[in-house]
Amino acid sequence: MPRSAILAAARSARARSLIETIPMTRSVIDRFVAGPETADAVRVASELMADGRRVTLDHLGEDTTDRVQARATVDAYRTLLTVLADMGASAGSDVSIKLSAVGRQLPADGEKIALDNARAICAAAAAAGATVTLDMEDHTTTDSTLGMLRELRADFPWVGAVLQAYLRRSEQDCRDLSGTDSRVRLCKGAYAEPPSVAYQDKRDVDKSYVRCLGILMRGRGYPMVASHDPRIIDIAGRLAARSGRDRNDYELQMLYGVRPAEQRRLAARGDTVRVYVPYGVEWYGYFMRRLAERPANLAFFLRSLATSG
Ligand code: FDA
Repeated sequence: MPRSAILAAARSARARSLIETIPMTRSVIDRFVAGPETADAVRVASELMADGRRVTLDHLGEDTTDRVQARATVDAYRTLLTVLADMGASAGSDVSIKLSAVGRQLPADGEKIALDNARAICAAAAAAGATVTLDMEDHTTTDSTLGMLRELRADFPWVGAVLQAYLRRSEQDCRDLSGTDSRVRLCKGAYAEPPSVAYQDKRDVDKSYVRCLGILMRGRGYPMVASHDPRIIDIAGRLAARSGRDRNDYELQMLYGVRPAEQRRLAARGDTVRVYVPYGVEWYGYFMRRLAERPANLAFFLRSLATSG
């Protein structure tokens, strides 16, 4: 099944209701998602921190369609940050938020609601000594996300952004966001995008990633290298050395459940490694994007279904 078909299913309500009701699905998503509750996120975060990895926690949800749900997302982040602070684990931790989860798509005033909600999460993070990074969604939202980033950074200069190397615009965005204190998480990009805005060939995406990373490493900000690709990780180390950065001046980031042994190895050799840990009940879109990234994940999922009967 091609990547585009899986990404189309990620946005389909019919496919969602089908896949969510398969009993076997839960055990497969456990590989990529900490669990439904705050306690699950905290348990996984503690395990990761115990061997020297840092975390960014994502309360799953996207395409929120009502204010109550958007507000509930803010409350979930507040609760999480309070629990982490009580455990003495919030300083140095990060939370990742999707602006669509805090209301951007709401019909009236969506942008304003999302900005106010993101601000509330930033205030809670500031009180806990944690940071916030704004996830990047499909390309129709890039300008809106970067606009809100600018507004949030006026009060919380440590708010980070995600840039996607598959977008043709990202080199310029990297230049714009390479100033002092600017935290940028660079990833390849996980959505289905048209050729007019995004490179389609994997090699072109990889080349764009390296160009973008060079700009960030030579800049004055804090690059966050979000990739599981061994060649990218190797190049990141060399670009950092060439730019005079030591291992505290940038970090490597990977997703929970993806290459965990490599995460441990890199942390043990002294790299700063942060793991993106999603939790909550709205796992569908996130999970489908993980399946689309790697045929082996899809095969694993289908095999689990075949043997579950
Ligand atoms: P690539 O896809 O080329 O994979 C390289 C190797 O990594 C593979 O050969 C395989 O070994 C391993 N691998 C990669 N994905 C895997 C998977 N799902 N399961 C198992 N193994 C896998 N995207 C986005 O559009 N917006 C965002 O905000 C974010 N945020 C984000 C945060 C963090 C911390 C990470 C690591 C990633 C994201 N992403 C994202 C996702 C990102 O855009 C991209 O889709 C994935 O990271 C896969 O790309 P790689 O760079 O790993 O390379």
